[in-house]
Amino acid sequence: MTDKVTLSVIKADVGGYVGHSSMHEDLMKEAEERLEPAKRDGMLIDFHVSRVGDDLELIMTHRKGVDNTEIHQLAWKTLECCTGVAKKLKLYGAGQDLLGDAFSGNVKGMGPGVAEMEFVERESEPILVFMADKTSSGAWNMPLVKMFADPFTTIGLVISPAMHDGFRFEVQDVLEHKRIYFDCPDEFYDLLVFVGACARYMIRAVYHRGTDEIAAVSSTQRLSVIAGRYVGKDDPVLIVRCQGNFPAVGEALEPFAFPHMVEGWMRGSHHGPLMPVSVEQSNPSRFDGPPRVVCLGFQLCNGSLVGPRDMFDDPSFDETRRQANLAGEYLRRHGPFEPHRLPLGEMEYTTMPGIMERVADRFEELAD
Ligand code: 13P
Ligand code: 13P
Ligand code: MG
Ligand code: MG
Repeated sequence: MTDKVTLSVIKADVGGYVGHSSMHEDLMKEAEERLEPAKRDGMLIDFHVSRVGDDLELIMTHRKGVDNTEIHQLAWKTLECCTGVAKKLKLYGAGQDLLGDAFSGNVKGMGPGVAEMEFVERESEPILVFMADKTSSGAWNMPLVKMFADPFTTIGLVISPAMHDGFRFEVQDVLEHKRIYFDCPDEFYDLLVFVGACARYMIRAVYHRGTDEIAAVSSTQRLSVIAGRYVGKDDPVLIVRCQGNFPAVGEALEPFAFPHMVEGWMRGSHHGPLMPVSVEQSNPSRFDGPPRVVCLGFQLCNGSLVGPRDMFDDPSFDETRRQANLAGEYLRRHGPFEPHRLPLGEMEYTTMPGIMERVADRFEELAD
């Protein structure tokens, strides 16, 4: 027990309704019923169950720190119970993201996405929880760079003395399982060399340089790598603390006014624009997309989640959504051709190996 508060967001796709487009309300009810006793018993301070597309999101606060076995077990059991409901309704891909049969102390590496941070709650603690569907963890790289290192997005980097020294980025190489830190603004160009390659180098966390305080943390699980084969994308989550030493709420939302291109969409095998929407509108249906991002805002109050506010439920993002539709339409016209389709190495649900095997003996050596 500490006087610090921990915010844990643990999520999984445990069954889609209809297809991969959305979530049946019974799953959310089941999750609430499973978490409620933990709040009554004091294990959780508070929780909020949400969704983006077909992904179930458990947002929880407690005082047990990150990677806590009890909290992870609670989340795992909750996701298992929701899988039970999904199976009863024969929802699509019931239990899709739960890879293991037996819980072994931590949900990491078992399929669910996890973002957690522990900190001392400030006088006022505005928090944003970003959740995306039909994309992967690399989708946060560009918005995080803009939020914490780009003065054209975050004017606070220029005019707020509390932010003027910049931020430290923790970058993970998800293939080699290594990490490296870059201090910005000093090492901005070095940072971009890596995080511009979003499929491999992902920003795991951001820290305030002056105080080492945690500012942002993302889920960087890549399900395809975990399972050794494609079993669903790692539709990611991201937690960002705002105001004071951190970007203002509006600065943290601003990067999403550009619907940047991400991996995902149909069968996890395409590029498409990331469209910021309300929870209500997070039902990716056209060609199972385009990819969506939802943002819930909370004020923490002694660990309680005051909220949420549905942050992209704002007409000021209408133009972004229109641009996303235009960019999506342009890409769709490429059909099965790159760059709409992902490059070979990135193909996930691909039928390529099987077809390759079938035609392998028809490939003839060229004479020269
Ligand atoms: P208020 O004056 O409404 O608190 O806004 C301050 C601010 O910095 C907005 O970005
Ligand atoms: P999800 O990862 O959201 O389940 O989507 C999978 C898919 O194949 C969509 O076409
Ligand atoms: Mg799904
Ligand atoms: Mg999903």
